[in-house]
Amino acid sequence: MKKLLEKYAPTRENLLDILHELQDNDPQNHLTAEALREVADYIGIPLSDVMSTASFYSMFSLQPRGRHIIRICESPPCLLMGADSLITALQEMLGVKVGETTEDGAFTLETTSCLGACGVAPAMMIDDELYGNLSRERLAEIIDRVRSADEAR
Ligand code: FES
Repeated sequence: MKKLLEKYAPTRENLLDILHELQDNDPQNHLTAEALREVADYIGIPLSDVMSTASFYSMFSLQPRGRHIIRICESPPCLLMGADSLITALQEMLGVKVGETTEDGAFTLETTSCLGACGVAPAMMIDDELYGNLSRERLAEIIDRVRSADEAR
């Protein structure tokens, strides 16, 4: 963790970047209590400041999550294009509810506000990849592709 921290100057301005870096490098895609303490020590700010930043932004998680984070948009333009039924489809496909992680630890399903991709609504992101013009069929293909890529590793 020290190596990751040292990529950034120990200033409060770098807090968000540091939290991103630590979360991205965590095998369970979250910020551990230990990581938050180390960040507070490194920057020299109270742990409560680090905690409140980490819990304020929805992109950070204090709970362990899957290897892949699915964020499906539930803002009005995507809802108008059927995002609701896609959320249901994803829940059925993965056997989890929104906010949960699949038993094999592969996926965590989350909802999000607008991803800036309303032109291709309904849209979602898996990790850093954006997917638009979603349908049930396309969802199934995408999930299969991500699973197969995992298995090939
Ligand atoms: S409303 Fe869903 S991407 Fe903008």
